[in-house]
Amino acid sequence: MAQIIDGKEVARRVREGIAEETARLREQYGRPPGLAVVLVGDDPASAVYVRNKERAAQEVGFHSEVHRLPAETTQQALLQLLEQLNRADEIDGYLVQLPLPRHIDPQAVVRAISPEKDVDGLTPVQAGRLLLGEPGLRPCTPQGVMELLRSAGVDPDGKEAVVVGRSAIVGKPMAHLLLGAGATVTIAHSHTRKLEEVTRRADILVVAAGRAGLVGPEHVKPGAAVIDVGTNRGEDGKLKGDVRFSEVEPLAGCITPVPGGVGPMTIALLLRNCLEAMQWRSSASSKSPVS
Ligand code: GUN
Repeated sequence: MAQIIDGKEVARRVREGIAEETARLREQYGRPPGLAVVLVGDDPASAVYVRNKERAAQEVGFHSEVHRLPAETTQQALLQLLEQLNRADEIDGYLVQLPLPRHIDPQAVVRAISPEKDVDGLTPVQAGRLLLGEPGLRPCTPQGVMELLRSAGVDPDGKEAVVVGRSAIVGKPMAHLLLGAGATVTIAHSHTRKLEEVTRRADILVVAAGRAGLVGPEHVKPGAAVIDVGTNRGEDGKLKGDVRFSEVEPLAGCITPVPGGVGPMTIALLLRNCLEAMQWRSSASSKSPVS
């Protein structure tokens, strides 16, 4: 029987700490941290995520803005808004919700975000800092996974970690965070042959493949920490993970459920990134690691 990691509870504790820190920063700087979210188009899942981000930011006492733009917004108009956000004093961090409509080039958009306000950690500057092991803003979901591992008492140092998935926002930064924490890391993906032979080596298995039910007991070493980043919508409208929870749970040492595992952590870490962005920006130091 695995320890089931309660992401809701861990996220609640993180948000509690952020609310306290927000009150302190408000005293110190005379204003709260400011977070903006940009949503283009009317993807229903994105609309829910953005509403949740807005609510979470308000609950911890941030200044929170959401810019909702119609699907036919031109790339140029979007880039103009990002320039405004780059200059806005009251905004410490912002993100553009993905995916974007097809006529907009996501790479051009990400490159337009000022690295010091890049709370998604997606700009080349922040991604480079992670690669080099320098301080900076890291993508939220992989940071959330690291917090969950810590909460379960799993130290990656010296362990075999396997990350399934190689996206810029989860798989690749996840692998680098684990590497930085001393794990021996393998990245598996859709072209990996004999996936189960690779994943069975893992003491820590992080699955971010975006394929419902991809991972079963045949993929898992007994006692492993299994972290499921999958958020697949089933035909019944229910959220399904990449891991077949009921089959893997009896075998794992600890495991995250979907929903209620990694999902709640992403927003909590977004808030923490915004706090850090404010502190770095406000320290007005030329040595600031994020400017
Ligand atoms: N869409 C789904 N997850 C994310 C995320 O973490 N950041 C952004 N910008 N878009 C997303």
